[in-house]
Amino acid sequence: MAKHTDLSIDFLGFKCENPFFLSSSPVSGTYEMCAKFLEAGGGGVFYKTLTTTIPEECSPRFDAPRKEATAFIGFKNMEQTSDKPYQDNLDAMRKLKENYPNKLIIGSIMGMDEDNWEEMARDYTALGIDMLELNFSCPQMTYEGMGSDVGASVELIDKYVKAARRGSHLPLIAKMTPNIEKMEIPARAAINAGAQAISTINTIKAITGMDFDHFTALPVVNGKSSISGFSGKASKPIALRFITNLAQDSELQGIPISGIGGIETWEDAAEFLMLGASNVQFTTSVMQYGYRIVEDMISGLSIYLAEKGFDKLEDFVGVALKNIIPADDIDRDFKIQPKIDYDKCVSCGRCYISCFDAAHQAIEWNDEERKPTILDDKCVGCQLCLLVCPVYDCITPGKITFKEEDQFGKGSKTDWKEDAVNKHEIAVGKYDRP
Ligand SMILES: Cc1cc2nc3c(=O)[nH]c(=O)nc-3n(C[C@H](O)[C@H](O)[C@H](O)COP(=O)(O)O)c2cc1C
Repeated sequence: MAKHTDLSIDFLGFKCENPFFLSSSPVSGTYEMCAKFLEAGGGGVFYKTLTTTIPEECSPRFDAPRKEATAFIGFKNMEQTSDKPYQDNLDAMRKLKENYPNKLIIGSIMGMDEDNWEEMARDYTALGIDMLELNFSCPQMTYEGMGSDVGASVELIDKYVKAARRGSHLPLIAKMTPNIEKMEIPARAAINAGAQAISTINTIKAITGMDFDHFTALPVVNGKSSISGFSGKASKPIALRFITNLAQDSELQGIPISGIGGIETWEDAAEFLMLGASNVQFTTSVMQYGYRIVEDMISGLSIYLAEKGFDKLEDFVGVALKNIIPADDIDRDFKIQPKIDYDKCVSCGRCYISCFDAAHQAIEWNDEERKPTILDDKCVGCQLCLLVCPVYDCITPGKITFKEEDQFGKGSKTDWKEDAVNKHEIAVGKYDRP
């Protein structure tokens, strides 16, 4: 039987059974929904954000762009906060904590002004739940000065974190918006004002597609649409970059990060964890596949960690951070040219087309034999051909050559010379120029 690593991990003093949580959204919008996820094995829930006034919503309110045959590469939503009565939601959170004392139950609040933030924080604290998330990040609130308007303003963040703190002694988690260049700045403001952790990302302001008959964006609401939040798989690269920025920020060292954005599988979750998140949340994947995706996340991550020799999840958090370096520190002294396995090649010509039309014209195409040949002197080792080849392992990394030294020192001349070097050493960053 495969070995498993225990996935329990601390989050602000709470021992979580595993790092998998529902993020605040309709997937965590009632007692029954949250309970179903917790029964499936989830470590906790961030309950749907409440406001004390129920917002008006539109119909339809979602779009899910496709690429070729792939549905749901991402997701656009135009929703705001919970559409259920405030008191019903409070009762649901209280009951969740009573019935699932070992699971992490977090309430998400969004006030309209300082008094309202403080009042909501006080109401939630009386429920006996574990922590509060402060929603500074919904990008489609119809009231000004709420949601991502707050996340983009250090002044509002400061005011509202302090207001929530006045109303609650519970740990506060600031949920930040990605609709900003540098998230470190508002994140620092939240921590300096009294928050204990950061969760991110909320959705990205977007237009996902157009209606070609009526010249409006999708979804069409009575002939119109609006810019609103994008989430799901295609948003993951943006989320990972924000997590890395926060985890590497010198002023945020030791501040726990809850990672969100496009997580569907245990591999997605592992990416956030190795970049410094100590737990993860998800919504869009549940909207598409349901709560049981958490079962695969649990078994996949625990077997992977055991295989890699991690005794506890905590040791895995942030292991990749040292390998994310500034662009000017990247080693540019060698190139790894592709190698074609002609036994696997199906003669589709896609490597040739991409290389000719979009790279360095470094693949020659023999029309008679329908055979590509790599031209060593032209190939720069960009490896676009590996990425477009439709056959697994047909084009792989091959010959490694190094820049010749000239009078300016190591690798400054662009003549290339082949050298025997261990490819594995390059992959793990242990190679030194021969
Ligand atoms: C339909 C929908 C409603 C959402 N509502 C909320 C909300 O009430 N509060 C909140 O903090 N985030 C809300 N979000 C954002 C998610 O919690 C999450 O941050 C975002 O969708 C990115 O994660 P994902 O790619 O796993 O969906 C909502 C997202 C969706 C798709």
